[in-house]
Amino acid sequence: MLKTRILTILGSPHDLNSNTRAMVEDFVEEIALAGLPLEHQVISLGKMEVKPCLGCWNCTQQKLCPLRADNLEAIKVAMVECDMLIVASPVYTNQITAQMKAFFDRLFTWCHIFPLLGKYSLSACTTGNDGMKPVGRFLQKMLATYGTSSFGHIQSMGGFTPGYFPFREKARKKNRKLARKIAGTIKHWKTLPVSSLQRKMFRVMREKMSGCNTFRYLADSDSKSDVVPNSLKLKMMKNILAKNDIVEEDIERISRMMEFEYNWWKERNWLKTRSFRQLANTPVPPGFNIKERLLEC
Ligand SMILES: Cc1cc2nc3c(=O)[nH]c(=O)nc-3n(C[C@H](O)[C@H](O)[C@H](O)COP(=O)(O)O)c2cc1C
Repeated sequence: MLKTRILTILGSPHDLNSNTRAMVEDFVEEIALAGLPLEHQVISLGKMEVKPCLGCWNCTQQKLCPLRADNLEAIKVAMVECDMLIVASPVYTNQITAQMKAFFDRLFTWCHIFPLLGKYSLSACTTGNDGMKPVGRFLQKMLATYGTSSFGHIQSMGGFTPGYFPFREKARKKNRKLARKIAGTIKHWKTLPVSSLQRKMFRVMREKMSGCNTFRYLADSDSKSDVVPNSLKLKMMKNILAKNDIVEEDIERISRMMEFEYNWWKERNWLKTRSFRQLANTPVPPGFNIKERLLEC
């Protein structure tokens, strides 16, 4: 039986001494004990160089990232190749760590294209005593944004100082039931139901892409847009543009925003999809190499 490849992206700077890592490793061990053959790789952002995004938008324009010499590329490869992704961060001042935020920001284009569709996922966090809610919510949202199907979130208080995590055993016991459920699901490659967060992120992204499409149509109705926009929407948009003194030159400029993402949606035949399920069930067109494309941006 093939081993399930589980990848954890760890936002803690503590690497081997991290409380969050300890909780996740216990959890993955429980999945293995429940009978799922697996291999677990942990990428510790504290040990990697992932510089903060410069906000140049190059990636959205199919141009190279000026920071590409750092370690992000290797992390992206691991993400594309895994079967299940775990994003794990301690609470730092009520949020994820700066290392983890830099990592998510650098995947700007990935936020709009459901790059990891079809993969399982989970989020995890530890804390001293508070801040788990905002971290859990944020990590879950990111997992849905990437298109993954999440088993949920695991968390624990009582991570007091690095390597001092007296609630560790309690967390392991509490999470055992979920670990067993995950093992059973993955063993049979069962599909999880579409979640409300996936539905929500679909609506948000479709709105963005339909906006891109409308601007392309306004900039050059003959060649640039793929789908003819709804006439009422077009009329409303023209009114808004006129009221805000947005001239032809601006429209042309806006129409070129998110070129990479727009082309992804267009080439994967997603522009006309009406639901997350429909998008997920649209076959990948022949010649569209997902891995190659994801490493391009
Ligand atoms: C800079 C910093 C900020 C922190 N902020 C919070 C916080 O807002 N609330 C809290 O309860 N614990 C906070 N903690 C404690 C950590 O969340 C806790 O020790 C966690 O288990 C560390 O996990 P790690 O070993 O995986 O890095 C903070 C710790 C540090 C170093």
